[in-house]
Amino acid sequence: MAPTPVFFYSHGSTMMLGEQSSSADFWKQCGDEALAHNIKGVIMMGAHWDATSDRLEVAMNPSPGKSPVAYVHPSKYVNYKLEPDLPTGNRVLAMLQDAGFNAHANDKFEWIHDTYLILIRMFPEKCPPTTIISMNARFDPHFHMKVGSTVRPLRNEGYLIIGTGGAVHNLYRNRWAPMLKYRDNFAQETPPEKWALEFRQSVEDCFTQNRGPALRRAVTRLMKHPQYRDAHATDDHFVSACFVSGAAGDWEDEEQEKGRLGAETWELTNMCNSQFMLGSWPGSRTAAATA
Ligand SMILES: [Fe+2]
Repeated sequence: MAPTPVFFYSHGSTMMLGEQSSSADFWKQCGDEALAHNIKGVIMMGAHWDATSDRLEVAMNPSPGKSPVAYVHPSKYVNYKLEPDLPTGNRVLAMLQDAGFNAHANDKFEWIHDTYLILIRMFPEKCPPTTIISMNARFDPHFHMKVGSTVRPLRNEGYLIIGTGGAVHNLYRNRWAPMLKYRDNFAQETPPEKWALEFRQSVEDCFTQNRGPALRRAVTRLMKHPQYRDAHATDDHFVSACFVSGAAGDWEDEEQEKGRLGAETWELTNMCNSQFMLGSWPGSRTAAATA
């Protein structure tokens, strides 16, 4: 089977769950297309769960709870039933261990909004079987790229691979006042600052102008970009982009269409929530793929 597309989503603030946006519309559209193509399940790396030392963990809690989502009415998420995919979780664990990772099952992990916000938006009717892989707290770009390349073969079986983090995501440099005072997360009292615009453009260029191993090199190299530390005060919202580049950056992926910026939503003045699709659904590929 031809490989499924891969997605890098910027989940933004918690209010992206409760408020309408073009990003939310794009997530829903991606979910609808995934269901139309009968995906087997979802494999995700988020931005809020990391394992220490050299470990990786896979979520294997059969009935996980949800951590609360600030600034969002509970009716938007409390009744959504999560579907941990334990059989696929065991397969992913074995694949990671065979590739040399110190990977372990975590049967206590409670899911966090970085992953279930996206699942609710993509699949509001029903959560598909989902496997979550932790980050590693050393935040090595090449390590996370390799995690993505290790699970990449599952794309050929109909699994959807998603990284959820942020294109520009520095909580220390956001303008929080309109959200805290008025619940207005989309307020733009001033334009985004130059460093945010610069880094956002570089993220778009890397994802949309590179295919195959060049994509892996471009995305992992972004962590050395002059504005990287301005755009990401911490690394936790970027290494899932490296994971995505591993899952979408094989030589075989050179034959796919270039990555596409599907939607983008600015929040809190300086946080840029860019949404990328890498590859395309079988049957919808165009002549551009071979250009
Ligand atoms: Fe987050």
